[in-house]
Amino acid sequence: MSLSEVAFRNRARGSLICEPVPTARLGFEYHAHIQGLARQAAAGMKNDKSITSPTVLLQVTDPHLHAAADSKMRGVNTYDTLLAVLGHAQQDERWPPAAIVATGDLVQDESRGGYERFKSCFDELGLPIYCIPGNHDDPELMHALLAEQPFQVGGEAVLGAWQLVLLSTFVRGEDAGAVGAEQLSALDSYLARNTERPTMICMHHQPVAMGSAWLDGVGLTDADEFLSVIERHGHVRAVVWGHVHQALDEQRGDVRFLSTPSTCAQFLPKKNFFALDDKPPGCRWIVLHADGSIDTTVDWLQT
Ligand SMILES: [Fe+2]
Repeated sequence: MSLSEVAFRNRARGSLICEPVPTARLGFEYHAHIQGLARQAAAGMKNDKSITSPTVLLQVTDPHLHAAADSKMRGVNTYDTLLAVLGHAQQDERWPPAAIVATGDLVQDESRGGYERFKSCFDELGLPIYCIPGNHDDPELMHALLAEQPFQVGGEAVLGAWQLVLLSTFVRGEDAGAVGAEQLSALDSYLARNTERPTMICMHHQPVAMGSAWLDGVGLTDADEFLSVIERHGHVRAVVWGHVHQALDEQRGDVRFLSTPSTCAQFLPKKNFFALDDKPPGCRWIVLHADGSIDTTVDWLQT
């Protein structure tokens, strides 16, 4: 069973909700379109030789948007800070990336208006926007409102020499997350069938301890099982996530584990109780090289 089929089954059961990708989007036509967008956007990726070129990604995470433009969370107008981060990224010499990955908590108030606001921030950029749900999201609304290109919720994508897996860790009613047995099995099968490309897995919840008791209490409850699966597949070279509102860059064997600051407020690292950090909004640039290596930097908004 494929990852997307598991997503459909889980969605139907209403238990572990993994975002389904409509059947039409799984066909060659959709992926060709997305890859076409990526090729147009990625500098130096204009012909078949592009497979040896680096692929540049921008990760934004945890924007926590609301239906109202002036809503704040923890004292921050999250709409303003998302726009500021995107504006800052567009001034970077690495712009445009081949795609943007948005790793969850897109919306704070689970509102239709929040997702429409998210959509309005991204749909004119001319880039594929890969999305996964976070614990604050409403996966059904997300799927309904981000169903059209350039958005893709869940599934897989090929970008240059790499492939991305957009893995849902959403569990209804919980702040913690889980991949779930069925999705883990599907992931294992997918990775066994698709071994040619270095692979980056994008998710919301952290699969490794962050060293904060409160945050690690709402991490990935089946992290050990997830790590066992990716250990079996040497072409998995990176795992990136959001949720923790702070930066981490850790190499474990051949796998790079990366967390990324929110586009709004940050959490103080290594604290056992919740505390805000005074760091500004941020995002992460990820350069995926054809040989499987990675260059990455966190970009903090200048204040
Ligand atoms: Fe968040």
